[in-house]
Amino acid sequence: MTSIRRRDLLAASAAVVLLPRVSRAEPAPIPVAVSSANGIPAVKRACELLDPALLATQTRTSTVGRDHRPVHAAVQGVSLVENDPKDMSVGLGGLPNENGVVQLDACVMEGTTGLGGAVAAIENIQNPSQVALRVMDRTDHVLLVGKGAYRFARAHGFRHAELLTEAARKRWLRWKENLSDKDDWIPPERDKGGTITCLARAPNGHMGGCTTTSGLAYKIPSRVGDSPIIGAGLYVDDTAGAAGCTGRGEACILNCASFLAVEFMRQGRTAMQAALETCRRIVARTKAKRLLNAGRPAFNVKVYCLRNDGTHGAASIWSGGKYAVRDAKGARLEPAQFVFKRS
Ligand code: GLY
Repeated sequence: MTSIRRRDLLAASAAVVLLPRVSRAEPAPIPVAVSSANGIPAVKRACELLDPALLATQTRTSTVGRDHRPVHAAVQGVSLVENDPKDMSVGLGGLPNENGVVQLDACVMEGTTGLGGAVAAIENIQNPSQVALRVMDRTDHVLLVGKGAYRFARAHGFRHAELLTEAARKRWLRWKENLSDKDDWIPPERDKGGTITCLARAPNGHMGGCTTTSGLAYKIPSRVGDSPIIGAGLYVDDTAGAAGCTGRGEACILNCASFLAVEFMRQGRTAMQAALETCRRIVARTKAKRLLNAGRPAFNVKVYCLRNDGTHGAASIWSGGKYAVRDAKGARLEPAQFVFKRS
Protein backbone atom coordinates (compact mmCIF):
# COMPACT_ATOMS: atom_id res chain seq x y z
CA MET A 1 0.00 0.00 0.00
CA THR A 2 2.76 2.37 0.99
CA SER A 3 4.76 1.72 -2.19
CA ILE A 4 1.67 2.34 -4.38
CA ARG A 5 1.15 5.63 -2.64
CA ARG A 6 4.77 6.55 -3.24
CA ARG A 7 4.45 5.68 -6.95
CA ASP A 8 1.30 7.80 -7.17
CA LEU A 9 3.04 10.66 -5.50
CA LEU A 10 6.02 10.43 -7.84
CA ALA A 11 3.77 10.37 -10.88
CA ALA A 12 1.81 13.34 -9.59
CA SER A 13 4.90 15.40 -8.90
CA ALA A 14 6.39 14.57 -12.33
CA ALA A 15 3.20 15.90 -13.95
CA VAL A 16 3.59 19.31 -12.31
CA VAL A 17 6.08 20.53 -14.87
CA LEU A 18 5.75 24.26 -14.24
CA LEU A 19 6.07 24.04 -10.49
CA PRO A 20 8.77 21.42 -9.85
CA ARG A 21 9.38 20.62 -6.24
CA VAL A 22 12.13 18.83 -4.41
CA SER A 23 11.87 16.67 -1.36
CA ARG A 24 11.92 18.68 1.83
CA ALA A 25 13.43 18.18 5.22
CA GLU A 26 10.95 16.91 7.82
CA PRO A 27 8.71 19.94 8.50
CA ALA A 28 9.40 21.87 11.68
CA PRO A 29 6.91 20.82 14.41
CA ILE A 30 7.08 24.23 16.06
CA PRO A 31 6.36 27.74 14.78
CA VAL A 32 9.22 29.47 12.96
CA ALA A 33 9.49 33.17 12.17
CA VAL A 34 12.09 35.14 10.26
CA SER A 35 12.53 38.91 10.22
CA SER A 36 14.90 41.73 9.42
CA ALA A 37 17.53 42.47 12.07
CA ASN A 38 15.22 44.96 13.84
CA GLY A 39 12.63 42.20 14.24
CA ILE A 40 13.64 40.18 17.32
CA PRO A 41 10.47 41.31 19.17
CA ALA A 42 8.46 40.52 16.03
CA VAL A 43 9.67 36.92 15.67
CA LYS A 44 9.15 36.26 19.38
CA ARG A 45 5.59 37.60 19.28
CA ALA A 46 4.70 35.81 16.04
CA CYS A 47 5.88 32.46 17.41
CA GLU A 48 4.11 32.97 20.72
CA LEU A 49 0.86 33.48 18.83
CA LEU A 50 1.41 30.32 16.78
CA ASP A 51 2.52 28.15 19.68
CA PRO A 52 0.38 24.98 19.67
CA ALA A 53 0.04 24.89 23.46
CA LEU A 54 -1.13 28.49 23.56
CA LEU A 55 -3.48 27.94 20.66
CA ALA A 56 -5.08 24.97 22.41
CA THR A 57 -5.72 27.09 25.51
CA GLN A 58 -7.10 29.97 23.49
CA THR A 59 -9.44 27.78 21.51
CA ARG A 60 -10.93 26.35 24.67
CA THR A 61 -11.11 29.36 26.92
CA SER A 62 -10.30 32.65 25.33
CA THR A 63 -12.18 35.10 23.22
CA VAL A 64 -9.11 37.19 22.50
CA GLY A 65 -6.37 36.31 20.06
CA ARG A 66 -8.48 33.74 18.28
CA ASP A 67 -7.00 34.62 14.93
CA HIS A 68 -4.45 31.83 14.59
CA ARG A 69 -3.29 32.56 11.09
CA PRO A 70 0.45 33.07 10.49
CA VAL A 71 -0.33 36.28 8.59
CA HIS A 72 -2.02 37.63 11.72
CA ALA A 73 0.93 36.52 13.87
CA ALA A 74 3.35 38.31 11.52
CA VAL A 75 1.25 41.49 11.68
CA GLN A 76 1.10 41.36 15.48
CA GLY A 77 4.87 40.90 15.50
CA VAL A 78 5.69 43.88 13.30
CA SER A 79 3.10 46.03 15.12
CA LEU A 80 5.42 46.01 18.15
CA VAL A 81 8.10 47.65 16.04
CA GLU A 82 5.63 50.04 14.35
CA ASN A 83 4.66 51.17 17.87
CA ASP A 84 8.26 51.74 18.95
CA PRO A 85 9.12 55.44 18.48
CA LYS A 86 12.84 54.63 18.67
CA ASP A 87 12.73 52.59 15.44
CA MET A 88 12.90 55.33 12.80
CA SER A 89 12.14 53.01 9.90
CA VAL A 90 8.48 52.16 10.47
CA GLY A 91 5.23 53.42 12.01
CA LEU A 92 5.46 55.90 14.89
CA GLY A 93 8.77 57.79 14.67
CA GLY A 94 9.46 56.77 11.07
CA LEU A 95 11.51 59.33 9.10
CA PRO A 96 9.25 61.60 7.02
CA ASN A 97 9.18 62.59 3.36
CA GLU A 98 10.83 65.79 2.08
CA ASN A 99 7.87 67.86 3.35
CA GLY A 100 8.23 66.49 6.88
CA VAL A 101 5.17 64.23 6.55
CA VAL A 102 5.38 60.56 7.57
CA GLN A 103 3.94 58.35 4.81
CA LEU A 104 3.81 54.62 5.46
CA ASP A 105 3.67 51.52 3.23
CA ALA A 106 2.80 47.94 4.20
CA CYS A 107 1.53 44.69 2.78
CA VAL A 108 0.49 41.26 4.01
CA MET A 109 0.15 37.95 2.25
CA GLU A 110 -1.27 34.59 3.23
CA GLY A 111 0.33 31.48 1.80
CA THR A 112 -2.70 29.22 2.14
CA THR A 113 -5.29 31.32 0.30
CA GLY A 114 -2.88 33.28 -1.90
CA LEU A 115 -4.61 36.48 -0.80
CA GLY A 116 -2.82 39.74 -0.08
CA GLY A 117 -3.59 43.26 1.10
CA ALA A 118 -1.63 46.50 1.11
CA VAL A 119 -1.65 50.22 1.80
CA ALA A 120 0.75 52.80 0.37
CA ALA A 121 1.58 56.40 1.26
CA ILE A 122 -0.89 56.29 4.14
CA GLU A 123 -0.61 59.15 6.69
CA ASN A 124 -1.56 59.45 10.38
CA ILE A 125 -2.20 55.75 10.96
CA GLN A 126 0.32 54.07 13.24
CA ASN A 127 -0.12 50.45 12.14
CA PRO A 128 -0.28 50.23 8.36
CA SER A 129 0.37 46.48 8.67
CA GLN A 130 -2.98 46.06 10.44
CA VAL A 131 -4.74 48.17 7.83
CA ALA A 132 -3.18 46.01 5.09
CA LEU A 133 -4.62 42.96 6.85
CA ARG A 134 -8.07 44.62 6.82
CA VAL A 135 -7.71 45.35 3.10
CA MET A 136 -7.06 41.64 2.57
CA ASP A 137 -9.81 40.41 4.87
CA ARG A 138 -12.51 43.03 4.37
CA THR A 139 -12.29 44.17 0.75
CA ASP A 140 -12.12 42.57 -2.65
CA HIS A 141 -9.03 44.65 -3.47
CA VAL A 142 -5.32 44.34 -2.83
CA LEU A 143 -3.90 47.88 -2.60
CA LEU A 144 -5.33 51.15 -1.24
CA VAL A 145 -3.27 54.34 -1.36
CA GLY A 146 -3.06 57.78 0.22
CA LYS A 147 -6.22 59.49 1.46
CA GLY A 148 -8.44 56.57 0.45
CA ALA A 149 -6.33 54.22 2.55
CA TYR A 150 -6.58 56.66 5.48
CA ARG A 151 -10.37 56.91 5.17
CA PHE A 152 -10.63 53.11 4.97
CA ALA A 153 -8.52 52.81 8.14
CA ARG A 154 -10.67 55.36 9.96
CA ALA A 155 -13.83 53.54 8.87
CA HIS A 156 -12.38 50.44 10.52
CA GLY A 157 -11.75 52.28 13.78
CA PHE A 158 -8.03 53.03 13.51
CA ARG A 159 -7.07 56.15 15.46
CA HIS A 160 -5.74 59.32 13.78
CA ALA A 161 -2.19 59.69 15.11
CA GLU A 162 0.65 62.19 14.79
CA LEU A 163 3.55 59.99 13.70
CA LEU A 164 6.33 62.58 13.47
CA THR A 165 8.22 62.34 16.76
CA GLU A 166 10.48 65.12 18.00
CA ALA A 167 13.56 63.02 17.22
CA ALA A 168 12.40 62.38 13.64
CA ARG A 169 11.41 66.05 13.16
CA LYS A 170 14.87 67.20 14.31
CA ARG A 171 16.59 64.77 11.92
CA TRP A 172 14.38 65.96 9.06
CA LEU A 173 15.02 69.61 9.90
CA ARG A 174 18.77 69.03 9.95
CA TRP A 175 18.50 67.42 6.52
CA LYS A 176 16.35 70.29 5.23
CA GLU A 177 18.75 72.95 6.53
CA ASN A 178 21.69 71.25 4.87
CA LEU A 179 20.27 70.57 1.44
CA SER A 180 22.68 72.79 -0.43
CA ASP A 181 26.38 72.04 -0.83
CA LYS A 182 26.98 75.66 -1.82
CA ASP A 183 27.02 77.01 1.72
CA ASP A 184 29.24 76.44 4.74
CA TRP A 185 27.08 73.80 6.38
CA ILE A 186 28.37 70.24 6.40
CA PRO A 187 25.50 67.95 5.36
CA PRO A 188 24.72 65.05 7.69
CA GLU A 189 25.16 61.53 6.45
CA ARG A 190 22.13 60.67 4.36
CA ASP A 191 19.47 58.77 6.32
CA LYS A 192 18.37 55.77 4.33
CA GLY A 193 15.27 54.74 6.24
CA GLY A 194 14.53 51.08 6.86
CA THR A 195 11.86 48.46 6.91
CA ILE A 196 10.69 45.44 8.83
CA THR A 197 9.59 42.21 7.23
CA CYS A 198 8.28 39.22 9.19
CA LEU A 199 7.62 35.76 7.77
CA ALA A 200 5.83 33.16 9.90
CA ARG A 201 5.17 29.44 9.58
CA ALA A 202 2.71 27.59 11.83
CA PRO A 203 3.37 23.98 12.87
CA ASN A 204 0.69 22.85 10.39
CA GLY A 205 2.72 24.32 7.52
CA HIS A 206 0.54 27.36 6.92
CA MET A 207 2.52 30.50 6.20
CA GLY A 208 2.00 34.24 6.24
CA GLY A 209 4.01 37.41 6.14
CA CYS A 210 4.05 41.15 6.47
CA THR A 211 6.38 43.96 5.36
CA THR A 212 5.99 47.50 6.70
CA THR A 213 8.02 50.70 6.40
CA SER A 214 8.17 54.47 6.48
CA GLY A 215 10.16 54.13 3.26
CA LEU A 216 13.10 56.09 2.00
CA ALA A 217 13.90 58.99 4.30
CA TYR A 218 13.01 62.44 2.85
CA LYS A 219 11.49 60.84 -0.24
CA ILE A 220 9.50 62.76 -2.84
CA PRO A 221 5.96 62.85 -1.42
CA SER A 222 3.88 59.86 -2.56
CA ARG A 223 6.96 57.87 -3.55
CA VAL A 224 6.05 54.21 -2.94
CA GLY A 225 8.71 51.56 -2.44
CA ASP A 226 8.58 47.79 -2.59
CA SER A 227 7.09 47.23 0.86
CA PRO A 228 3.41 47.43 -0.17
CA ILE A 229 3.96 45.65 -3.49
CA ILE A 230 3.10 41.96 -3.44
CA GLY A 231 5.91 40.09 -5.21
CA ALA A 232 8.42 42.87 -4.52
CA GLY A 233 8.57 43.46 -0.74
CA LEU A 234 6.76 40.23 0.17
CA TYR A 235 5.56 36.99 -1.33
CA VAL A 236 4.14 33.91 0.42
CA ASP A 237 3.07 30.55 -0.95
CA ASP A 238 2.55 27.55 1.34
CA THR A 239 3.67 25.20 -1.43
CA ALA A 240 7.16 26.74 -1.61
CA GLY A 241 7.93 29.32 1.07
CA ALA A 242 7.90 32.99 1.98
CA ALA A 243 10.26 35.84 1.19
CA GLY A 244 10.51 39.51 2.15
CA CYS A 245 12.92 42.30 1.26
CA THR A 246 14.41 45.43 2.78
CA GLY A 247 16.74 48.00 1.28
CA ARG A 248 16.39 49.87 -2.01
CA GLY A 249 12.75 49.33 -2.88
CA GLU A 250 13.13 50.38 -6.50
CA ALA A 251 15.52 47.45 -7.12
CA CYS A 252 13.13 45.01 -5.45
CA ILE A 253 10.19 46.25 -7.54
CA LEU A 254 12.14 46.09 -10.81
CA ASN A 255 13.26 42.53 -10.11
CA CYS A 256 10.08 41.15 -8.45
CA ALA A 257 12.53 40.15 -5.75
CA SER A 258 10.32 38.38 -3.21
CA PHE A 259 8.44 36.46 -5.87
CA LEU A 260 11.74 35.46 -7.45
CA ALA A 261 13.11 34.20 -4.13
CA VAL A 262 10.01 32.07 -3.54
CA GLU A 263 10.32 30.63 -7.06
CA PHE A 264 13.97 29.77 -6.36
CA MET A 265 12.84 27.87 -3.25
CA ARG A 266 10.17 26.13 -5.30
CA GLN A 267 12.90 24.98 -7.68
CA GLY A 268 14.70 23.33 -4.77
CA ARG A 269 17.19 25.87 -3.54
CA THR A 270 17.72 26.24 0.18
CA ALA A 271 16.38 29.40 1.79
CA MET A 272 19.91 30.83 1.96
CA GLN A 273 20.65 29.98 -1.68
CA ALA A 274 17.35 31.48 -2.81
CA ALA A 275 18.11 34.73 -0.97
CA LEU A 276 21.64 34.92 -2.36
CA GLU A 277 20.55 34.05 -5.91
CA THR A 278 17.97 36.85 -5.77
CA CYS A 279 20.63 39.35 -4.69
CA ARG A 280 22.87 38.15 -7.54
CA ARG A 281 20.00 38.67 -10.00
CA ILE A 282 19.54 42.25 -8.78
CA VAL A 283 23.28 42.86 -9.16
CA ALA A 284 23.27 41.45 -12.69
CA ARG A 285 20.33 43.61 -13.71
CA THR A 286 21.67 46.85 -12.25
CA LYS A 287 23.15 48.58 -15.29
CA ALA A 288 22.40 52.29 -14.99
CA LYS A 289 25.61 54.22 -14.28
CA ARG A 290 23.96 56.38 -11.62
CA LEU A 291 23.26 53.23 -9.58
CA LEU A 292 26.80 51.88 -9.79
CA ASN A 293 29.99 52.59 -7.92
CA ALA A 294 33.10 51.00 -9.45
CA GLY A 295 30.80 48.68 -11.41
CA ARG A 296 28.91 47.43 -8.35
CA PRO A 297 25.53 48.52 -6.98
CA ALA A 298 25.81 51.72 -4.94
CA PHE A 299 22.93 50.50 -2.76
CA ASN A 300 22.00 47.51 -0.66
CA VAL A 301 19.12 45.05 -0.69
CA LYS A 302 18.48 42.26 1.82
CA VAL A 303 16.35 39.24 1.05
CA TYR A 304 14.88 37.05 3.83
CA CYS A 305 13.58 33.54 3.10
CA LEU A 306 11.58 30.96 5.05
CA ARG A 307 11.02 27.72 3.21
CA ASN A 308 7.85 25.75 3.70
CA ASP A 309 9.78 23.11 5.67
CA GLY A 310 10.74 25.74 8.27
CA THR A 311 14.36 26.22 7.16
CA HIS A 312 15.50 29.81 6.72
CA GLY A 313 18.21 32.14 5.45
CA ALA A 314 18.93 35.66 4.30
CA ALA A 315 21.38 37.43 2.02
CA SER A 316 22.32 40.96 1.06
CA ILE A 317 24.22 42.56 -1.78
CA TRP A 318 26.80 43.99 0.64
CA SER A 319 28.31 42.13 3.61
CA GLY A 320 27.56 42.83 7.26
CA GLY A 321 23.87 41.97 7.30
CA LYS A 322 22.05 39.92 9.89
CA TYR A 323 18.54 38.55 10.19
CA ALA A 324 16.30 37.72 13.13
CA VAL A 325 14.91 34.23 13.55
CA ARG A 326 12.94 32.32 16.12
CA ASP A 327 12.94 28.53 15.74
CA ALA A 328 13.64 25.49 17.94
CA LYS A 329 16.90 27.10 19.06
CA GLY A 330 15.15 30.27 20.27
CA ALA A 331 15.21 33.88 19.10
CA ARG A 332 18.50 35.27 17.83
CA LEU A 333 20.32 37.13 15.08
CA GLU A 334 22.02 35.07 12.37
CA PRO A 335 24.53 36.29 9.78
CA ALA A 336 23.26 36.85 6.26
CA GLN A 337 25.25 35.75 3.22
CA PHE A 338 26.36 38.40 0.75
CA VAL A 339 27.44 39.00 -2.84
CA PHE A 340 30.19 41.57 -2.18
CA LYS A 341 32.38 42.07 0.88
CA ARG A 342 32.59 45.65 2.06
CA SER A 343 36.20 46.83 2.09
N1 GLY B 1 12.40 48.82 1.09
C1 GLY B 1 11.74 49.94 1.58
C2 GLY B 1 11.59 51.03 0.62
O1 GLY B 1 12.37 51.14 -0.31
O2 GLY B 1 10.70 51.85 0.77
